[in-house]
Amino acid sequence: MIEIIAISGSLRAASTNSALISALAANAPDNCRIEIYDGIGRLPIFNPDDEGERTPPEAARLIEMITQADGVIVSCPEYAHGVPGGIKNALDWLVSRDAAVGKPAMLVHASTRSFYARAALAEVMRTMSFAIYEERALEIALLGKRPAEMEAILAEPASRQAMREAVQTFVGFIRGR
Ligand SMILES: Cc1cc2nc3c(=O)[nH]c(=O)nc-3n(C[C@H](O)[C@H](O)[C@H](O)COP(=O)(O)O)c2cc1C
Repeated sequence: MIEIIAISGSLRAASTNSALISALAANAPDNCRIEIYDGIGRLPIFNPDDEGERTPPEAARLIEMITQADGVIVSCPEYAHGVPGGIKNALDWLVSRDAAVGKPAMLVHASTRSFYARAALAEVMRTMSFAIYEERALEIALLGKRPAEMEAILAEPASRQAMREAVQTFVGFIRGR
């Protein structure tokens, strides 16, 4: 069984990125379990002085989850042409340790825009030595949709097939490493 941690970069209650992450988890293929990490809003702002024995509990939980996982999936909005602070902060807690090194990661997209954030997030994660799966990015256009509309789009057979295929090929990438 492949264990994947999925993280949404948005804290918004009606977040399109969180909806995509939830749908990916619900549609995961049989050989894979997707667990959602929803603690980015509880993480203190990263401070290198608070590493080691002083690591805050929520940061320690994130670090442990990423360390144990076979892979990571991130879906993230773009704010002012950048990566939202919450997800960057979460990643900063992982930098000076082994959790991210060689860890397979896939970015998925709930917006058809956000090209600056996509590039910046990939650059940050590559720099942290994540092994980024870049062959086929999953993109499901949810930008501006209300929860009921998102639910309908994500329940469409084409969306479910795209999500299953994306995760299945990511699982293949993980197994091939
Ligand atoms: C403060 C703010 C800044 C934004 N800046 C951009 C931007 O620079 N480029 C872009 O494509 N979208 C931008 N957006 C739109 C968000 O990326 C878009 O609404 C996204 O789908 C929100 O994700 P969520 O539904 O998961 O919260 C911005 C939204 C907010 C709230």
